[in-house]
Amino acid sequence: MVDLTTRIGSLTLANPVMPASGTFGPELVQVFDLDRLGALVTKSITPEYRAGNPLPRLCETEAGVLNSIGIPGKGLDHFISQAMPEWRRFRAPLVVSLSAPSVAAFADAAARLAATPGVAAIEANISCPNLEEDGRAFAMHPEPAAAATAAMRRVVGDLPLWVKLSPNTGDIAAVARAVEDAGADALVVANTILGLAIDIETARPKLGSGMGGFSGPAFKPIALRLVWQVAQAVRIPVIGVGGIAAAADAVEFLMAGASAVQVGTATFVSPTAMLEVIEGLRDFCARKGIRGVAELTGAALPRTGLPQAAE
Ligand SMILES: Cc1cc2nc3c(=O)[nH]c(=O)nc-3n(C[C@H](O)[C@H](O)[C@H](O)COP(=O)(O)O)c2cc1C
Repeated sequence: MVDLTTRIGSLTLANPVMPASGTFGPELVQVFDLDRLGALVTKSITPEYRAGNPLPRLCETEAGVLNSIGIPGKGLDHFISQAMPEWRRFRAPLVVSLSAPSVAAFADAAARLAATPGVAAIEANISCPNLEEDGRAFAMHPEPAAAATAAMRRVVGDLPLWVKLSPNTGDIAAVARAVEDAGADALVVANTILGLAIDIETARPKLGSGMGGFSGPAFKPIALRLVWQVAQAVRIPVIGVGGIAAAADAVEFLMAGASAVQVGTATFVSPTAMLEVIEGLRDFCARKGIRGVAELTGAALPRTGLPQAAE
């Protein structure tokens, strides 16, 4: 028997596997029982209606995907009144991803989510443009990242506050420490890395908005390195995301210091990828004589190591 439970601050998850924001919706219930996941994560919700970016918004590359979706959505009122009743049908804890254009807008929306029954945690997507900083993403620098985090912390009470970091920064450890000091309960590492693809026949970018966020298999070593750096910089739990498609990928992220993982692009290839990751983690632990998946966290970090095999 392998214990798959993992703790993310005050929240205990039945297993460490959950979807990455924006790559998953409740409609997947037609494919498998969503309550088998450690948690459910919504696509990013914005305070107001957003049309999203110009088409095309998705472009396949050799070993990953570029997207410039632009967080289209009907806004927070619609989410709370129309989408939440659907999400409440599931037992798995619901993590609501939140994106906003200013510190004040993050705080207002976080306060409303904290007052909404059925929200188990907020995942603040601070990779979005900050209108008060000339459109640069909050997550690019420690100060705006901390300001958004502190403003949300003040209004959400005991509700777990996760903050999703961006690879598009020069010093992710500094951003991680600032966000931890500002009161985050966990860090999600990482959002997509900026990339570009060009159609050489038309000499135009393949995505309608030019640049996009890169994800999928080729992003994995970068995301893994970010988790490794962040896990050594902070004491709060880290949730790893980037190119995870199989259990072995998830094991790498756990060993690099993550307490849980998210699966994004791989779900587009195989809608049941997350279930295979869960079962593969169980098999890996059993094969190695490890009683609990939580023991894998940080095993590859300097001065740690795999736990001794159980008797
Ligand atoms: C089509 C698409 C939409 C996404 N939408 C969001 C989003 O709304 N909010 C967010 O925080 N991340 C979003 N992401 C980023 C993913 O959650 C994840 O951080 C990233 O794709 C890396 O993981 P992966 O390689 O497993 O896909 C999106 C990614 C893709 C591919």
